[in-house]
Amino acid sequence: MQIGIIGLGFVGLSLTSVLSSKGFNVVGIDVDKEKCRKISDGISPFFEPDLEKTLKNGLKKKLKIKSDFSLVKDCDLIFVTVGTPQNSTGAINLSIIKKAMMLLGENIRESKKQHIILVKSTVVPGTMKDIILPILENNSKKKAGRDFGLISNPEFLQESTAIRDTKFPHVVVLGGYSTKFMKKVKNFFTKLHPDAPIIITNHQTAEMIKYANNSFLATKISFINQLSNICQKIPGANVDDIAKTIGLDPRIGGLFLNAGPGYGGSCLPKDMKALIKFAKITGVRPTLLNAVEDVNTKQLEEVISLVKRKLGILESKKITILGTSFKPNTDDIRDSIAIELIKKFLKRKVKVTVHDPRAIENTKNVFKDKINYGKSIEDAISGSQCVIIMTQWKQYEKLTKNNFKQMKKKMVIDCRRILVDKKLDVDYYAIGIGNDKNEMHLM
Ligand SMILES: NC(=O)c1ccc[n+]([C@@H]2O[C@H](COP(=O)([O-])OP(=O)(O)OC[C@H]3O[C@@H](n4cnc5c(N)ncnc54)[C@H](O)[C@@H]3O)[C@@H](O)[C@H]2O)c1
Repeated sequence: MQIGIIGLGFVGLSLTSVLSSKGFNVVGIDVDKEKCRKISDGISPFFEPDLEKTLKNGLKKKLKIKSDFSLVKDCDLIFVTVGTPQNSTGAINLSIIKKAMMLLGENIRESKKQHIILVKSTVVPGTMKDIILPILENNSKKKAGRDFGLISNPEFLQESTAIRDTKFPHVVVLGGYSTKFMKKVKNFFTKLHPDAPIIITNHQTAEMIKYANNSFLATKISFINQLSNICQKIPGANVDDIAKTIGLDPRIGGLFLNAGPGYGGSCLPKDMKALIKFAKITGVRPTLLNAVEDVNTKQLEEVISLVKRKLGILESKKITILGTSFKPNTDDIRDSIAIELIKKFLKRKVKVTVHDPRAIENTKNVFKDKINYGKSIEDAISGSQCVIIMTQWKQYEKLTKNNFKQMKKKMVIDCRRILVDKKLDVDYYAIGIGNDKNEMHLM
């Protein structure tokens, strides 16, 4: 069996690497020629733990990386993993996936194979039936369900654990019609992931499952962030003990209950916005989803207003941001809350210095010479009037009072509570910790 994967980003390259390392015949296709060249040389275009090792393994076997779309005609299973970003209104932008589907349709037109196309990209309900299916049928001159299979197969991997999640998904969702193609795909996944439950449903439910998943995760984060604000008003209260305890209740679950400066990343913010837009189109007022977003936006404002209260006018103040990636163990800064914070500081003419163990190159691509880049954590902190820990990198957990000695004014805002038990000899403020000195709540 030949497998094609269209779009070699976080989702596509993880899948390509895992399947090829297992010995499947895989061709990974991307429009970006430079990206293809790097990947062919065994270099991942982004940092993801274990990805390069898995990719190299695949390249030793039968993996091919190409920017030539015509190769899809030889593939039995074709996974589509191109981006579905948001447009300026927050709605989903389908232009990339539409283009990919047109090319795909054209390239399977003359083929005698009964291709099965699986869409992993996140798309709002109705997209598969109303947009993707007609594009494929029109461009291939073939009939879905008879000449080729079309299946929704939403992806749930998390960056930083993408390889593990691809190897061992907690669930496989297959949306579409009950056809011979669905049967084949079910068999494929049963063999590939014997321990994962397989949910077979229709296209629109599969599409909605992905949004339900991400909006629930965002809701958990905003919930704990709101509680963390309340905790800050209760001297001695600690949001982590609360999260840990309620997380032990199996009805709640412990994950995604880490209070912080708000959720970011390439999926939660965009999927929340797309779902809110979609809900409005259906005539439903998304009051809860709006509140989740609102809490998220205000969380960052809390941090800024604390800095303002402590430093006064922000113009020309030297502030250090530790961590620009949206989470640890990735170099992805798409919709990172730290990047948002830097933008807001730059509007207020703050002199920003940043440090990140992995994401500096991506950060430089956004801010160029508008900010400073610390060569080390010490270099980033030296001379600073305020240090803000944004991303929970392991390196920052090891900081001690010696690291803050060279600061101009010793003030640390710990958005992740990773230094809460240390004696730092600084003015220390932590999200979610209520004490007399912690004034995060005083607006
Ligand atoms: N990143 C995540 O953690 C994650 C998790 C689950 C689901 N998703 C969803 O999966 C999809 C892909 O996400 P991603 O983060 O991997 O995207 P990405 O932007 O990192 O990668 C997309 C890739 O597709 C390529 N591409 C664009 N048009 C193409 C075309 N016509 N033919 C071939 N390649 C093309 C791009 O060059 C790019 O390399 C999105 O819909 C996203 O919402 C992402």
